[in-house]
Amino acid sequence: MQTLNSRVAIGLLLAAFYLTLLPFVMHGFDTIDVGFSQDAARHSYLFADGANVGNAAMLVHILAGTFLVALVPLQLLKGLRLRYNRFHRMMGASLVALAWITGLAGMSYIPLRGTIGGPLMSAAFFLYGLCLFTAALMVARRALEGDRAGHWAWGLRLFWLALGSWLYRVHYTLWYLLTGGVGSEPDFSGPFDLVQNFAFFVPYLLAVQIWIARNRSAHQKALVTGS
Ligand code: HEM
Repeated sequence: MQTLNSRVAIGLLLAAFYLTLLPFVMHGFDTIDVGFSQDAARHSYLFADGANVGNAAMLVHILAGTFLVALVPLQLLKGLRLRYNRFHRMMGASLVALAWITGLAGMSYIPLRGTIGGPLMSAAFFLYGLCLFTAALMVARRALEGDRAGHWAWGLRLFWLALGSWLYRVHYTLWYLLTGGVGSEPDFSGPFDLVQNFAFFVPYLLAVQIWIARNRSAHQKALVTGS
């Protein structure tokens, strides 16, 4: 059972997360609004005249990604998971679908339109999409197989990957607040930008891997949500 202190700590963490997510979500919906306007290409570099497939991929990508990042923290709440098993499964299926749609739409957009940061950013974001897609696939597979440790491990990887686009913005916001943007250029060619191409998901995956290796034995029993 969770203590009152840990519940308060989780509540505060969630409140802080949703507060910092708010501007990101609003930016996402603003961009969707722009995407549906007549002269979208004039208002955002993400859209181009006549490039209907690329434009649609970006709209779908932002919509699915925004729901993914906003909903994924709820999936880790132990109280919700144990008390409302059906909710956990339905939410799990929705998150897997959202991760696939976000990843596939993003990975379609990259070869069609590229990215603002050029080939290195395109390669890094494509790799990120592949990781997100794979984690969503594996978390679902392990759940269906009743493999509790596997489902837990892939769930943790999916969680951090789903937060990746938010972490990317958090890194930039903190960096600009602390340094005024040293090493960052408008075309994303500065040393800070180049590191950020990977720093929003690779270090988190490595840290999660260490956590998994250390704590795996505590998650070997049959899957609680599998019955
Ligand atoms: C996980 C949730 C995600 C959310 C909420 C999200 C959201 C967004 C948003 C709001 C933009 C527009 C950025 C801007 O206005 O400058 C964007 C751009 C983009 N996203 Fe995502 N995204 C997510 C995941 C991913 C993944 C997994 C990929 C990899 C396939 C990806 C690839 C891209 C690309 C290539 C762009 C255009 C980059 C550029 O040239 O500026 N995103 N995303």
